[in-house]
Amino acid sequence: MSCLGAVFGTDGVRWPKSGAVPRAGMYLICPMTVLGIDIGGTGVKGGLVDFPAGVLQGDPVHLPTPQPASPLALARAVKKLVDHFQWKGPIGAGFPGPIREGVVETAVNLSPQWVGKNPEKIFQKITRQKFVVINDADAAGLAEVHHGAGKKAKGVVVMITLGTGIGSALFYQGVLIPNTELGHLTLGGKDAEKSASAKAREIHEWSWKKWSRKVREYLQQVDRLINPDLIIVGGGVSKRSEKWLPRASEGVRAKVVPAKLHNEAGIVGAAMAAARGRGLG
Ligand code: BGC
Repeated sequence: MSCLGAVFGTDGVRWPKSGAVPRAGMYLICPMTVLGIDIGGTGVKGGLVDFPAGVLQGDPVHLPTPQPASPLALARAVKKLVDHFQWKGPIGAGFPGPIREGVVETAVNLSPQWVGKNPEKIFQKITRQKFVVINDADAAGLAEVHHGAGKKAKGVVVMITLGTGIGSALFYQGVLIPNTELGHLTLGGKDAEKSASAKAREIHEWSWKKWSRKVREYLQQVDRLINPDLIIVGGGVSKRSEKWLPRASEGVRAKVVPAKLHNEAGIVGAAMAAARGRGLG
């Protein structure tokens, strides 16, 4: 391959010895720019991401998620973002539902019409550009583990995103185990999203204190069931983590830290998935 690239390990750390032979699991990545798109139940955000640094160029562009978020309506919103950047090249998108072999399994915060559909094919058809689509929380986790709060972490890392829904991403030694859906654990017999998501706090107009107790109950459950070494908590609310994270982490055995890339992790991680040219989802 002819590019002035850098060889990276699966842990995302630059592999320094020139002339050395790559080990299994390593891959070559050329300096490149990728459009990253984070599709959520409330908003669709996009931005250009430079690699190998994994850094977003400027501020992301936001559009509201169309309601109902049918495949056609959402594909049109995605096309708007692509047109806004006048982008021709690789695109990575994070989708708010588990994706197996390219196909959406569930999409509780979008239209149910998405179930069984292939978002890569739908977005490619409307934009005429190549897409890699993975779960949105897996995307955010990739960004945090390689470029953010989990950069030096070893062992088992769980990323939890608190937004319209609750997303999760599970890593072992930097490698993603895709499509965990820990946001749908139950709290008091109900889906955890109904009380511990950022949206639940807004709907019920709960104080940070009240909501942080729900999040604590949720994080304790994740801790008990997965036994991670590190839990990274992301989503827009991670920008104000001092208001709620200390209380929400009480009694959690794993180390709990806020995301570093906050709400931008989903864009960066989606772009990473496309930059790698690997469908991890
Ligand atoms: C979905 C997850 C998604 C999360 C955050 C949940 O409702 O089931 O796949 O990661 O919302 O968008």
